[in-house]
Amino acid sequence: MNNDTNAKASILDAFQFRHATKQFDSSKKISADDFDFILETARLSPSSIGLEPWKFLVVDNSDLKDKLKQMAPGAQGQLDSASHFVIILARNIKDVKYDSDYVKNHYTNVKNFPVELIDQMQQKYKAFQEVDMNLAESDRAFFDWSCKQCYIALANMMTAAAQMGIDSCPIEGFHYQKVTDLLDKEGLLEDGHLGVAVMVAFGYRVQDPLPKTRKSIEDIVHWVK
Ligand SMILES: Cc1cc2nc3c(=O)[nH]c(=O)nc-3n(C[C@H](O)[C@H](O)[C@H](O)COP(=O)(O)O)c2cc1C
Repeated sequence: MNNDTNAKASILDAFQFRHATKQFDSSKKISADDFDFILETARLSPSSIGLEPWKFLVVDNSDLKDKLKQMAPGAQGQLDSASHFVIILARNIKDVKYDSDYVKNHYTNVKNFPVELIDQMQQKYKAFQEVDMNLAESDRAFFDWSCKQCYIALANMMTAAAQMGIDSCPIEGFHYQKVTDLLDKEGLLEDGHLGVAVMVAFGYRVQDPLPKTRKSIEDIVHWVK
């Protein structure tokens, strides 16, 4: 096997290894170093127009986890047993609209754009958001657009974890409004600038999953020539 073949085999092994883990071994903790590595893959993830419209809430508080359990039917096994439990928050219209303070600050201080180009950049993104993407249709459209970016980070974190032999489970099975109200009450949503995109649990499996089932490549790929 040459190196490319080795790399491909080990990446595909990780994709086969990853499964939506329902129950983790609560006696096993991911090391701080490994969890930092998973978070770093989130940080380096791409996002549309580079806005990084996310925040990763690492829930390490049993009281908050107990409360979440009452509103997250899809996380019943994971909340108690995962080594680490993350809620991925997405920035809403207040931050991701082309003319927001967040966008201006992000482009100036994170992306180091020349100040004199900011106005021009905002006009370009106004057209992109309002005309091309039709986000002005509703606040929800802006928020969903941010959530899409969060799911890229979600996927990268889970794949990176799998490559390290760490299990995970993405979680959408929760009551959105109840979780939002809870986190808002706890002061975790930056005064209404953040909403809940998706959750993800990490840890180590207690049992092997059932064999993976997927459609065939022919069923999902259509080459247009
Ligand atoms: C966005 C998203 C949300 C999901 N939400 C839940 C959930 O709330 N609870 C759960 O146990 N599994 C959840 N899953 C896991 C899926 O059911 C699972 O990925 C799918 O059945 C394929 O199985 P596999 O991941 O084990 O290959 C979710 C998956 C995704 C991608």
